[in-house]
Amino acid sequence: MHNAVNNPFWYGESVGSLLGRDADVGVVVDALTNAGRLLLMGWRHFGKTSILHAACAEVTARGVAVLRYDAEAFESLEALAREMASGATRTFATSLDHAGDIARRFFALLGAGASYDFTSQQLTIEFALTAAQRQRPITVLTVVLDGIEQLAATHGRPAAVVLDEFHEIILEGGDRAAHELRATVASHRYTGYAFASSNLRLMDELMNRGSAPLQGLADARVLGAISRHDFRPLIRRGLASAGAPDGASAGAPADDAGIEEILDLAEDVPRNVQWLCSGCWDDLRAGRTSSLTTTAAGAALDRIVGEHYSQYMLVWANLTSAQRRTLKAIAHEPSADFRLTEVAGAAGLAPSTMQRTLAALEDRSLIRYAASDTGTQRGVQWRLSDPFFAHWLARAQGTT
Ligand SMILES: Nc1ncnc2c1ncn2[C@@H]1O[C@H](COP(=O)(O)OP(=O)(O)OP(=O)(O)O)[C@@H](O)[C@H]1O
Ligand SMILES: [Mg+2]
Repeated sequence: MHNAVNNPFWYGESVGSLLGRDADVGVVVDALTNAGRLLLMGWRHFGKTSILHAACAEVTARGVAVLRYDAEAFESLEALAREMASGATRTFATSLDHAGDIARRFFALLGAGASYDFTSQQLTIEFALTAAQRQRPITVLTVVLDGIEQLAATHGRPAAVVLDEFHEIILEGGDRAAHELRATVASHRYTGYAFASSNLRLMDELMNRGSAPLQGLADARVLGAISRHDFRPLIRRGLASAGAPDGASAGAPADDAGIEEILDLAEDVPRNVQWLCSGCWDDLRAGRTSSLTTTAAGAALDRIVGEHYSQYMLVWANLTSAQRRTLKAIAHEPSADFRLTEVAGAAGLAPSTMQRTLAALEDRSLIRYAASDTGTQRGVQWRLSDPFFAHWLARAQGTT
């Protein structure tokens, strides 16, 4: 088994050790263990979920009842609330009878009952909602949160609620939902909260602008990029472990320019850095290349984009013509608003159409409005959330 060296890079479903995020994890752990409230804001693929994951592991080890959900994964607020009530009951119940008691006592307002599904071997909570409750699903969620708070208080065991892609809740429920949620969360003393969101613009509006329905919801923390200084040694070490194709561990050389090329092509987006590194590692391992050069990095990217051709095509196919033109302009060159207005004009789009298009692309997480300090173009620019999309587009349109 001399060949059994695993790819050290991680992305997608797998979880690896975190670079440069100790302080972020620490702040989340703090909030969750001390009934605090934290909102972690970061662009797509910058590492929010990984931080929540690491913090939850630590907090769970300290005996806190952790309930963690991805709001984006549910079809409705009601479904999310039901899953949270089920999770809380599973965590606090010591027997099936006890689960029934918990449902009736702590989620009484929702007509809750516990049942055991023998197929999935899971305890689940079902609600018998009134028509009024069905009309206002945010209330179902806040009743569940109150129930969790009371469960924690009654059992003398702190609880922690972690909601990833938190903005989905507000997008579904609107401003009134935001108010209601904020008030509920603020009243809790035994439950710590951590929220994460990749929609920075919406979160900023909700917390800081105008009527700001989420003002004071939580301490906000914005996630920065992981510095190249931290990434370089990890990449170098990781690629060296690819060794020679026959498993001899001479170590594959990676030149500095090659490593820099990976970071450039991935635009420092952590997911894309790991993804491309992983691809380079595979190429080295399989002997497709013998050392990491800039050319090898480019070839690995080309292979990745080719392998995910249909996924990218699907995203593209679901865009309107105006969205495609805008996305293409941004893919071609990260652009400030004013630049895009010129581009829009040239493409025959009215400025107002352009603004709507940008908002739609942003809501779909395809683009982000981010500060840039590269080269001479300081300021704020639109960029693609997934830098590889630009390479796919160039390939699809035959310009490479
Ligand atoms: N601290 C880190 N060190 C090294 N790699 C990281 C780190 N954080 C994230 N990554 C890389 O970025 C990928 C995306 O991380 P994660 O899913 O946590 O980000 P996210 O912000 O939740 O993304 P999304 O917006 O897609 O939900 C990880 O799978 C990993 O490849
Ligand atoms: Mg995530």
